[in-house]
Amino acid sequence: MTFEICLIPGDGIGKEVIPAAVEALKVLALDLTFVEADAGFECFQRCGEALPAATLEKARKADAVMFGATSSPSGGMKGYRSPILALRKELNLYANLRPCQSLPGEFSQPGIDLLIVRENSEGLYSGRERREGDTAIAERVITRTASERIVRVACEQAMERTARRNTPPVVTVVHKANVLKVSDGLFRECALRVVLEYPQITFQELLVDSAAMKLIKSPQSFDVLVTTNLFGDILSDEASALVGGLGVAPSANVGEGAPVFEPVHGSAPDIEGKGIANPVGAMLSAAMMLDTLGHTRAAHRLREVVHTTLATGIRTQDLGGKATTRELTDAVCQRLA
Ligand code: NAI
Ligand code: MG
Repeated sequence: MTFEICLIPGDGIGKEVIPAAVEALKVLALDLTFVEADAGFECFQRCGEALPAATLEKARKADAVMFGATSSPSGGMKGYRSPILALRKELNLYANLRPCQSLPGEFSQPGIDLLIVRENSEGLYSGRERREGDTAIAERVITRTASERIVRVACEQAMERTARRNTPPVVTVVHKANVLKVSDGLFRECALRVVLEYPQITFQELLVDSAAMKLIKSPQSFDVLVTTNLFGDILSDEASALVGGLGVAPSANVGEGAPVFEPVHGSAPDIEGKGIANPVGAMLSAAMMLDTLGHTRAAHRLREVVHTTLATGIRTQDLGGKATTRELTDAVCQRLA
């Protein structure tokens, strides 16, 4: 049996980091086949669609998707909707897993191994925004189904991690139910109900502002954090800064359809085409994909090689180094071979 991987590099540095990750995957010589598909702002300008039907079809058919990044003009553009949001919705990928682990190098703090589980389908990202004259209104949709589902994902992740880490599982529910009494009130109520199903897990709750502070002050104290869509988006970018920044942060979108693996960063127009984008986030996303496909040893090997490569000082500029995307990718591929 072979696994079919749909590659959607997208815009900007997405087109630089996805090929780098694929090179590393190819050196591992696994039972993977690759099919490319188009999406993003350039695609929209070329063909009038940000996520063409043919791309969606390929993604649906695949065993997994690797997504780079796409550009979304701030303030929006008529007819354009972010392809990653559309893909998450079409494939019903309701959970976004964003691990944050220490890396070797002075750019990273030591001892961090946490996972942010972000609700991926609703909250402030439900697309229900409108203008009424000089008033703008965004609806924050929280449902029992999605809230219970995401907290269950977090608890299952905590149980999986506890075996690997050899530490008791701790799930931190992050909300703002003191102010968002109705919407986060429901999210919190659902969380409290679900955690009763997992008596082995230590459960704690934090208000999002306090969680943001504690993430900086004592990141080593966290195991799994679970939260709503926007809070999860912000906290995960924040957490990435503790271990080197956006360039090294991986993620997985999981749920019903083919899982989508993507570096957390965007299309980075400021460094596009310079050949200096950090491919580590994309490579670590590829490792998450290998884990999901059951290639646990290959996943471990890829992570290990990325770590040793960084440890020998081969780093891109965002981590204080001088290496180009090409040089770092070559170094990783040589070690893998
Ligand atoms: P960004 O993540 O693209 O860049 C933020 C900063 O981090 C920039 O200075 C960039 O150079 C740096 N950076 C990011 N990834 C890097 C890497 N791999 N190596 C080295 N440096 C890296 O976020 P920004 O600037 O807010 O957004 C740019 C565009 O990307 C926007 O159009 C936005 O909508 C889109 N975006 C797309 C995402 C997606 O497709 N999932 C996620 C976030 C933003
Ligand atoms: Mg983000």
